[in-house]
Amino acid sequence: MLKISNLSVQIDKKKVLNGFNLNISLGEVHAIMGPNGIGKSTICKVIMGDSNYIVSSGTIIYNGEDLLKMDVTTRAKKGIFLLNQTPIEIPGVSNAEMLRMALSEKEGKLVSIFDFNKKMEETCQKLNLPKSFIHRGINEGMSGGERKKNELLHMWMLEPKFIILDEVDSGLDVDSLKIVCDNINEYRKTHKCSILLVSHHANILKMLDVSDVHIMANGKIVKSGDLSLALEIENNGYSAYSKANEVSEVLINE
Ligand SMILES: Nc1ncnc2c1ncn2[C@@H]1O[C@H](COP(=O)(O)OP(=O)(O)OP(=O)(O)O)[C@@H](O)[C@H]1O
Ligand SMILES: [Mg+2]
Repeated sequence: MLKISNLSVQIDKKKVLNGFNLNISLGEVHAIMGPNGIGKSTICKVIMGDSNYIVSSGTIIYNGEDLLKMDVTTRAKKGIFLLNQTPIEIPGVSNAEMLRMALSEKEGKLVSIFDFNKKMEETCQKLNLPKSFIHRGINEGMSGGERKKNELLHMWMLEPKFIILDEVDSGLDVDSLKIVCDNINEYRKTHKCSILLVSHHANILKMLDVSDVHIMANGKIVKSGDLSLALEIENNGYSAYSKANEVSEVLINE
């Protein structure tokens, strides 16, 4: 479904990714782990199409198409969805306004207000969010944990096929973590999709039944394995894999 080959990316004259490779098939759940600042959020944003990141070489092929040639809107319409590590506030634009417009755009016709409201209410209930969230400004004034759930509300409404979850577990209390994981697992059961998860904790990898775990160091994946690899990292840290941030400190000459 997604094939990333030999990808190199720079931002602000720093090379963050360097020869990055990753393959994810339909239905699989992969996790990326790695020290702070190593480039995990960078790869998430590059897949989504954040234009602040400059791709200097390599390819990303999504269902046989060249993703790097598409703008963010096209990528979203093709089913790619990013839950950001720190979801931003968009004051003045409500969840309902944005989602109804996005859905209408995706389906090529205005979606029925009745069906839309019904689904919004059902999804809020699933996520243990009050109905008032439907008309709240996007992430406006929401707590860290509420923002993560609010982004999952977007996921349910937009029904993406390739879902990137960048530290969805950060900021969640234990009960919310369970609700969120049950919710993502329910989405997986009812929708054909793949997930790329970034997390620092083996716990969520277990809860989401991750099949493949990848360790990032020096701008690329240096080791892949199963859940046992995440447990090894939790016990021993990353020192066996990297001198953290070696590559991201490489400055590009002007
Ligand atoms: N806009 C930017 N300007 C300058 N440097 C940036 C910018 N965005 C990212 N970087 C740098 O790129 C590197 C990779 O950042 P990234 O956010 O991908 O790390 P991460 O692996 O997700 O870390 P964490 O685990 O802390 O979330 C960091 O050194 C960061 O400072
Ligand atoms: Mg990050």
